[in-house]
Amino acid sequence: MIALLNCRAATPDDAVPIARLHADSWRRHYRGAYSDAYLDGDVFEDRRSLWAERLGQADDDYFTIVADHGDELVGFAHTVLDADAEQGALLDNLHVRFDLKRHGVGRALMTETAQVLRQRRPSSGLYLWVLKQNTAAQAFYSSIGGVVVGARLGGPFPGGGRAPVLRYGWPDLSALVGLL
Ligand SMILES: CC(C)(COP(=O)(O)OP(=O)(O)OC[C@H]1O[C@@H](n2cnc3c(N)ncnc32)[C@H](O)[C@@H]1OP(=O)(O)O)[C@@H](O)C(=O)NCCC(=O)NCCS
Repeated sequence: MIALLNCRAATPDDAVPIARLHADSWRRHYRGAYSDAYLDGDVFEDRRSLWAERLGQADDDYFTIVADHGDELVGFAHTVLDADAEQGALLDNLHVRFDLKRHGVGRALMTETAQVLRQRRPSSGLYLWVLKQNTAAQAFYSSIGGVVVGARLGGPFPGGGRAPVLRYGWPDLSALVGLL
């Protein structure tokens, strides 16, 4: 893992750097699923308003973890509590800055997310949806104990468009909590 990596709760000041990373990551990884018109448009402004709203209000229903490398934000994970009656919390967004992929940032964010989730909802599981075309992310989830627990046609995504998605789950958070 890279040195000087620190995970912490996001604050309203993180809205712009998170939106920048989010827009860049969607453009790089979601083409073919999200519409070209949307990805070629003002994705940053769309994400900036979403993150300003999410982080601008205290809400007990979700939490966002960011990873800093030195003084730069290099990753984030956003989790919605109690999203599913059986599988628990939904990991709604997870992105690592492109040039720092495969340096342990994703694993650190998942570990921190599991630790916070365990404090907030001790008996909750965790699940997420990943694009079927996103085989790199699937390899990442498998490597940290995730298993495929479902599949469906995802979307409509922001800007329209639909594509197959897989559901990954961790019924027990123990494996994630102890990853690092
Ligand atoms: C998917 C993502 C979050 C993973 O984060 P990361 O910081 O790159 O992953 P890590 O370095 O923590 O990887 C941990 C382990 O996962 C596995 N892994 C990660 N990326 C992989 C890849 N591309 N291919 C195969 N295995 C991979 C490896 O076992 C890796 O350990 P190793 O590097 O020691 O072999 C990140 O690559 C990313 O932001 N991707 C683009 C956005 C995205 O797809 N988000 C997920 C949306 S559902």
